[in-house]
Amino acid sequence: MAASERVGVALVTGSSSGIGQAVADRLASVGWRVYGASRRAAASVTQPSAWTPIPLDVISDVSVEAAVGSVLSAEQRIDLLVHCAGISVAGSIEDVSIPEAERQLATNYLGTIRVLQAVLPAMRQAGKGRIIVVGSIGGLIGLPFIGHYSASKFALDGMVQALRVEIAPFGIEATVLHPGDIQTDISANQIEGERTGSSSVYHRRFKATVGAYDKAVREARKPDVIAKAVLKLLARRSLPVRAVVGTPSERAGVVLKALLPSRVFETIIRKTYGL
Ligand SMILES: NC(=O)c1ccc[n+]([C@@H]2O[C@H](COP(=O)([O-])OP(=O)(O)OC[C@H]3O[C@@H](n4cnc5c(N)ncnc54)[C@H](OP(=O)(O)O)[C@@H]3O)[C@@H](O)[C@H]2O)c1
Repeated sequence: MAASERVGVALVTGSSSGIGQAVADRLASVGWRVYGASRRAAASVTQPSAWTPIPLDVISDVSVEAAVGSVLSAEQRIDLLVHCAGISVAGSIEDVSIPEAERQLATNYLGTIRVLQAVLPAMRQAGKGRIIVVGSIGGLIGLPFIGHYSASKFALDGMVQALRVEIAPFGIEATVLHPGDIQTDISANQIEGERTGSSSVYHRRFKATVGAYDKAVREARKPDVIAKAVLKLLARRSLPVRAVVGTPSERAGVVLKALLPSRVFETIIRKTYGL
């Protein structure tokens, strides 16, 4: 990308809080014309007029088409999509009902696909575009008691591997950025499966594990660390297949998962969470 093309029009989903909000703020601060999209869009702008909030619900075809359409009619292009919208459903695999699991996948996986399908035609027409999908280290390591969340993020990693090859001939690039724990509202917004209450056989271990996740998120780095990582990715000549942004121990976990026999790594996970 030539220097003059390094900023342009960006669509950031999940911009009403946490990582998406930090990404929208930082992109705007370096000159991108940013459209920040989420269900609570209008209530979410931290720096008035720094970027434009637009309503978006990723589980609705009509909403996604309207949101992307509004950016395209104002700007005639979208140069960058940073897709951060996501939710977390918690509970053992046995306790999370099928509708709850469907909600997890409908938002995190199919919601991503819906946004990609809306944005790609304009990028193809322009012959360029960059896409950063926010995954999770939980999309590289299966995390107990948020197994459907992990599954949704594993799905994104696999999907982006395929997508990259499909869109390369059109001059479009994609990557998946996997953050470790980041201090956001993700745990506060977490949806606990209806069957995870005290009558569940998993209850004690479930509560202890999600409690540990919540503590880690509360003590984690602020979301601007991901916004800075996004800028770093955009400064590269080409986007990598995936990027992992975590503390040294989180990154070590990803490396160990790749290197160690699976059962040995599973023992580390059990010991980490006392399971
Ligand atoms: N925080 C972490 O530790 C962490 C770690 C790894 C990965 N991540 C990922 O980072 C992304 C952002 O999460 P966060 O930590 O910033 O959590 P967050 O503060 O809860 O933000 C989630 C964002 O997603 C939006 N969203 C949720 N459902 C949506 C829908 N149906 N349509 C449109 N927007 C929707 C929310 O906006 P509205 O409610 O206004 O719609 C909000 O802006 C997620 O994909 C998450 O899985 C987070």
